[in-house]
Amino acid sequence: MQDNLSELIEVARIAARRGGEQTLEYFRKSIKVELKDDDSPVTLADRMAEEVMRTEIFEHYPDHGILGEELGHSNSDHRIQWILDPIDGTISYIHGIPLYTTLIGITIDDKPAAGVIYAPALDEMCDGAIGNGAYFNGEPCHARMTSRMEEATLITTDFVNIKKYGFEEPFFFLHDRCRYHRTWGDAYGHMMVAAGRADIMIDPVLNIWDSAALLPIVNESGARFTGLNGEERIDAGNAVSATAGLHPEVLSYFND
Ligand code: 2AM
Ligand code: CA
Repeated sequence: MQDNLSELIEVARIAARRGGEQTLEYFRKSIKVELKDDDSPVTLADRMAEEVMRTEIFEHYPDHGILGEELGHSNSDHRIQWILDPIDGTISYIHGIPLYTTLIGITIDDKPAAGVIYAPALDEMCDGAIGNGAYFNGEPCHARMTSRMEEATLITTDFVNIKKYGFEEPFFFLHDRCRYHRTWGDAYGHMMVAAGRADIMIDPVLNIWDSAALLPIVNESGARFTGLNGEERIDAGNAVSATAGLHPEVLSYFND
Protein backbone atom coordinates (compact mmCIF):
# COMPACT_ATOMS: atom_id res chain seq x y z
CA MET A 1 0.00 0.00 0.00
CA GLN A 2 1.21 3.51 -0.83
CA ASP A 3 2.13 6.26 1.68
CA ASN A 4 1.95 3.99 4.71
CA LEU A 5 -1.73 3.52 4.04
CA SER A 6 -1.87 0.62 6.46
CA GLU A 7 -0.73 2.93 9.32
CA LEU A 8 -3.25 5.59 8.27
CA ILE A 9 -6.11 3.09 8.18
CA GLU A 10 -5.15 1.77 11.61
CA VAL A 11 -5.31 5.29 13.08
CA ALA A 12 -8.61 5.83 11.22
CA ARG A 13 -10.06 2.68 12.82
CA ILE A 14 -9.04 3.89 16.29
CA ALA A 15 -10.35 7.43 15.71
CA ALA A 16 -13.68 6.19 14.31
CA ARG A 17 -14.11 3.82 17.23
CA ARG A 18 -13.29 6.53 19.82
CA GLY A 19 -15.55 9.10 18.13
CA GLY A 20 -18.32 6.52 17.78
CA GLU A 21 -18.06 5.51 21.41
CA GLN A 22 -18.43 9.17 22.35
CA THR A 23 -21.82 9.29 20.56
CA LEU A 24 -23.11 6.49 22.80
CA GLU A 25 -23.00 8.81 25.81
CA TYR A 26 -26.17 10.57 24.55
CA PHE A 27 -27.72 7.81 22.41
CA ARG A 28 -31.34 7.09 23.43
CA LYS A 29 -31.13 9.89 26.00
CA SER A 30 -32.81 13.25 25.87
CA ILE A 31 -30.57 15.62 23.87
CA LYS A 32 -31.22 19.06 22.40
CA VAL A 33 -31.58 19.02 18.61
CA GLU A 34 -30.69 22.14 16.58
CA LEU A 35 -31.39 22.72 12.89
CA LYS A 36 -28.59 23.68 10.48
CA ASP A 37 -28.93 25.93 7.43
CA ASP A 38 -29.88 22.98 5.21
CA ASP A 39 -32.58 22.08 7.79
CA SER A 40 -30.70 18.93 8.86
CA PRO A 41 -30.50 18.25 12.61
CA VAL A 42 -27.35 18.43 14.73
CA THR A 43 -26.67 17.77 18.42
CA LEU A 44 -23.95 18.25 20.99
CA ALA A 45 -23.08 14.58 20.40
CA ASP A 46 -22.08 15.34 16.77
CA ARG A 47 -19.68 18.07 17.88
CA MET A 48 -18.22 16.13 20.80
CA ALA A 49 -17.57 13.06 18.65
CA GLU A 50 -15.79 15.17 16.04
CA GLU A 51 -13.60 16.71 18.78
CA VAL A 52 -12.60 13.22 19.92
CA MET A 53 -11.71 12.14 16.37
CA ARG A 54 -9.73 15.33 15.64
CA THR A 55 -7.72 14.94 18.85
CA GLU A 56 -6.87 11.34 18.01
CA ILE A 57 -5.81 12.12 14.43
CA PHE A 58 -3.79 15.22 15.38
CA GLU A 59 -1.95 13.25 18.06
CA HIS A 60 -0.60 11.00 15.30
CA TYR A 61 -0.43 13.46 12.40
CA PRO A 62 -0.40 17.10 13.59
CA ASP A 63 0.24 18.50 10.09
CA HIS A 64 -2.37 16.47 8.16
CA GLY A 65 -5.54 18.16 6.97
CA ILE A 66 -8.86 17.51 8.69
CA LEU A 67 -12.22 18.49 7.22
CA GLY A 68 -15.14 17.75 9.52
CA GLU A 69 -18.85 18.30 9.03
CA GLU A 70 -19.23 20.17 12.31
CA LEU A 71 -15.88 21.88 13.04
CA GLY A 72 -14.49 22.99 9.70
CA HIS A 73 -11.19 22.60 7.86
CA SER A 74 -7.65 22.59 9.32
CA ASN A 75 -4.38 22.29 7.33
CA SER A 76 -6.33 22.41 4.08
CA ASP A 77 -3.14 22.49 1.96
CA HIS A 78 -1.72 19.15 3.13
CA ARG A 79 -1.72 16.35 0.53
CA ILE A 80 -3.29 13.96 3.06
CA GLN A 81 -6.79 14.97 4.16
CA TRP A 82 -8.99 13.27 6.75
CA ILE A 83 -12.68 13.83 6.06
CA LEU A 84 -14.94 13.28 9.06
CA ASP A 85 -18.63 12.85 9.68
CA PRO A 86 -19.04 12.20 13.42
CA ILE A 87 -22.66 11.09 13.06
CA ASP A 88 -23.96 10.12 9.63
CA GLY A 89 -27.65 9.52 10.04
CA THR A 90 -28.38 12.09 12.72
CA ILE A 91 -32.09 11.44 12.12
CA SER A 92 -31.57 7.77 13.03
CA TYR A 93 -29.50 8.88 16.04
CA ILE A 94 -32.15 11.21 17.46
CA HIS A 95 -34.81 8.51 17.01
CA GLY A 96 -32.74 5.94 18.91
CA ILE A 97 -32.24 3.79 15.78
CA PRO A 98 -28.81 2.07 15.91
CA LEU A 99 -28.12 2.44 12.16
CA TYR A 100 -26.23 5.72 12.40
CA THR A 101 -22.46 5.64 11.77
CA THR A 102 -19.22 7.51 12.34
CA LEU A 103 -17.28 8.07 9.10
CA ILE A 104 -13.67 8.76 8.20
CA GLY A 105 -12.44 9.07 4.64
CA ILE A 106 -8.79 9.70 3.76
CA THR A 107 -7.74 11.34 0.51
CA ILE A 108 -4.16 11.54 -0.77
CA ASP A 109 -3.50 14.17 -3.46
CA ASP A 110 -7.29 14.62 -3.74
CA LYS A 111 -7.84 10.92 -4.53
CA PRO A 112 -9.96 8.75 -2.21
CA ALA A 113 -7.51 6.32 -0.57
CA ALA A 114 -9.20 4.71 2.43
CA GLY A 115 -12.35 4.77 4.53
CA VAL A 116 -13.85 3.56 7.78
CA ILE A 117 -17.54 3.22 8.65
CA TYR A 118 -18.24 2.47 12.32
CA ALA A 119 -21.72 1.78 13.70
CA PRO A 120 -21.16 2.39 17.42
CA ALA A 121 -24.50 1.13 18.71
CA LEU A 122 -23.97 -2.17 16.89
CA ASP A 123 -20.19 -2.26 17.26
CA GLU A 124 -19.83 -2.98 13.53
CA MET A 125 -16.89 -1.65 11.56
CA CYS A 126 -16.30 -1.75 7.82
CA ASP A 127 -13.14 -0.38 6.28
CA GLY A 128 -11.19 -0.44 3.06
CA ALA A 129 -8.10 0.98 1.45
CA ILE A 130 -7.54 1.14 -2.30
CA GLY A 131 -5.66 -1.98 -3.38
CA ASN A 132 -6.10 -3.72 -0.04
CA GLY A 133 -9.68 -5.02 -0.06
CA ALA A 134 -12.64 -4.32 2.21
CA TYR A 135 -13.16 -5.67 5.73
CA PHE A 136 -16.20 -6.12 7.96
CA ASN A 137 -15.32 -6.48 11.64
CA GLY A 138 -11.78 -7.38 10.60
CA GLU A 139 -12.74 -10.14 8.11
CA PRO A 140 -12.53 -9.66 4.33
CA CYS A 141 -15.95 -8.77 2.91
CA HIS A 142 -17.31 -8.98 -0.61
CA ALA A 143 -20.29 -7.50 -2.37
CA ARG A 144 -22.91 -9.83 -3.81
CA MET A 145 -22.74 -11.08 -7.40
CA THR A 146 -26.37 -10.13 -8.20
CA SER A 147 -26.87 -9.18 -11.82
CA ARG A 148 -30.66 -9.55 -12.23
CA MET A 149 -32.73 -6.56 -11.09
CA GLU A 150 -35.67 -8.77 -10.14
CA GLU A 151 -33.47 -10.43 -7.48
CA ALA A 152 -32.12 -7.17 -6.07
CA THR A 153 -32.59 -5.63 -2.65
CA LEU A 154 -32.76 -1.84 -2.94
CA ILE A 155 -32.05 0.57 -0.07
CA THR A 156 -32.42 4.31 0.17
CA THR A 157 -32.39 6.78 3.04
CA ASP A 158 -35.86 8.29 2.64
CA PHE A 159 -38.27 9.21 -0.15
CA VAL A 160 -38.55 12.93 0.64
CA ASN A 161 -35.11 13.79 -0.74
CA ILE A 162 -35.57 11.50 -3.76
CA LYS A 163 -38.50 13.75 -4.65
CA LYS A 164 -36.91 17.04 -3.53
CA TYR A 165 -33.79 16.52 -5.68
CA GLY A 166 -35.73 15.47 -8.78
CA PHE A 167 -35.02 11.72 -8.94
CA GLU A 168 -38.58 10.50 -8.42
CA GLU A 169 -39.07 9.15 -11.95
CA PRO A 170 -35.86 7.09 -12.35
CA PHE A 171 -35.87 6.04 -8.71
CA PHE A 172 -39.38 4.56 -8.79
CA PHE A 173 -38.72 2.97 -12.19
CA LEU A 174 -35.78 1.22 -10.49
CA HIS A 175 -37.78 0.56 -7.32
CA ASP A 176 -40.53 -1.26 -9.21
CA ARG A 177 -37.97 -3.62 -10.80
CA CYS A 178 -36.33 -4.67 -7.53
CA ARG A 179 -37.47 -7.52 -5.31
CA TYR A 180 -37.06 -6.05 -1.81
CA HIS A 181 -37.01 -2.46 -0.55
CA ARG A 182 -35.70 -0.95 2.74
CA THR A 183 -35.01 2.54 4.12
CA TRP A 184 -33.07 4.12 7.08
CA GLY A 185 -30.09 3.79 4.68
CA ASP A 186 -27.50 6.58 5.22
CA ALA A 187 -23.92 5.27 5.16
CA TYR A 188 -25.16 2.06 6.76
CA GLY A 189 -26.98 1.29 3.48
CA HIS A 190 -23.73 1.59 1.50
CA MET A 191 -22.03 -0.61 4.07
CA MET A 192 -24.73 -3.23 3.47
CA VAL A 193 -23.79 -3.30 -0.22
CA ALA A 194 -20.08 -3.68 0.65
CA ALA A 195 -20.85 -6.41 3.20
CA GLY A 196 -22.94 -8.41 0.72
CA ARG A 197 -26.29 -7.91 2.47
CA ALA A 198 -28.00 -5.70 -0.11
CA ASP A 199 -27.52 -4.96 -3.79
CA ILE A 200 -28.24 -1.27 -4.43
CA MET A 201 -28.13 1.84 -2.23
CA ILE A 202 -29.27 5.18 -3.65
CA ASP A 203 -28.55 8.53 -1.96
CA PRO A 204 -30.07 11.60 -3.66
CA VAL A 205 -28.11 14.14 -1.57
CA LEU A 206 -24.67 13.82 0.03
CA ASN A 207 -21.89 16.09 1.17
CA ILE A 208 -18.23 15.16 0.76
CA TRP A 209 -18.01 14.00 4.41
CA ASP A 210 -20.92 11.62 3.75
CA SER A 211 -19.18 10.11 0.69
CA ALA A 212 -15.43 10.14 1.40
CA ALA A 213 -15.38 6.95 3.49
CA LEU A 214 -17.77 5.09 1.21
CA LEU A 215 -16.02 5.10 -2.17
CA PRO A 216 -12.88 3.12 -1.19
CA ILE A 217 -14.84 0.60 0.88
CA VAL A 218 -17.57 -0.09 -1.67
CA ASN A 219 -15.17 -0.29 -4.61
CA GLU A 220 -12.78 -2.59 -2.73
CA SER A 221 -15.70 -4.90 -1.87
CA GLY A 222 -16.21 -5.58 -5.58
CA ALA A 223 -19.31 -3.34 -5.89
CA ARG A 224 -19.22 0.14 -7.46
CA PHE A 225 -19.67 3.56 -5.87
CA THR A 226 -20.32 6.54 -8.15
CA GLY A 227 -22.42 9.67 -8.37
CA LEU A 228 -25.82 9.12 -9.99
CA ASN A 229 -24.24 10.52 -13.17
CA GLY A 230 -21.73 7.64 -13.16
CA GLU A 231 -18.64 9.62 -12.16
CA GLU A 232 -16.43 7.93 -9.59
CA ARG A 233 -16.07 10.90 -7.22
CA ILE A 234 -16.80 11.79 -3.61
CA ASP A 235 -18.07 15.28 -4.44
CA ALA A 236 -20.84 14.38 -6.89
CA GLY A 237 -23.54 15.48 -4.41
CA ASN A 238 -25.38 12.15 -4.60
CA ALA A 239 -24.42 8.49 -4.94
CA VAL A 240 -25.21 4.95 -5.89
CA SER A 241 -23.51 1.85 -4.54
CA ALA A 242 -24.45 -1.26 -6.47
CA THR A 243 -23.13 -4.70 -7.31
CA ALA A 244 -20.85 -4.74 -10.34
CA GLY A 245 -23.51 -6.58 -12.33
CA LEU A 246 -26.32 -4.11 -11.55
CA HIS A 247 -24.46 -0.79 -11.48
CA PRO A 248 -24.57 -0.08 -15.28
CA GLU A 249 -28.31 -0.78 -15.43
CA VAL A 250 -29.00 1.46 -12.42
CA LEU A 251 -27.03 4.27 -14.07
CA SER A 252 -28.91 3.82 -17.32
CA TYR A 253 -32.20 4.57 -15.51
CA PHE A 254 -30.79 7.81 -14.05
CA ASN A 255 -29.06 9.01 -17.24
CA ASP A 256 -30.98 7.95 -20.34
P1 2AM B 1 -26.13 13.57 8.23
O1 2AM B 1 -26.96 12.60 8.96
O2 2AM B 1 -24.69 13.51 8.53
O3 2AM B 1 -26.71 14.96 8.30
C1 2AM B 1 -27.68 10.35 3.49
O4 2AM B 1 -28.94 10.73 3.06
C2 2AM B 1 -27.04 11.42 4.29
O5 2AM B 1 -26.99 12.61 3.55
C3 2AM B 1 -27.77 11.81 5.55
O6 2AM B 1 -27.43 10.91 6.53
C4 2AM B 1 -27.26 13.20 5.83
O7 2AM B 1 -26.15 13.14 6.70
C5 2AM B 1 -26.72 13.62 4.48
N1 2AM B 1 -27.21 14.85 3.92
C6 2AM B 1 -26.39 15.70 3.29
N2 2AM B 1 -27.09 16.75 2.86
C7 2AM B 1 -28.36 16.57 3.21
C8 2AM B 1 -29.57 17.34 3.04
N3 2AM B 1 -29.58 18.50 2.38
N4 2AM B 1 -30.71 16.85 3.55
C9 2AM B 1 -30.69 15.68 4.19
N5 2AM B 1 -29.60 14.91 4.38
C10 2AM B 1 -28.44 15.35 3.89
CA1 CA C 1 -23.34 14.19 10.17
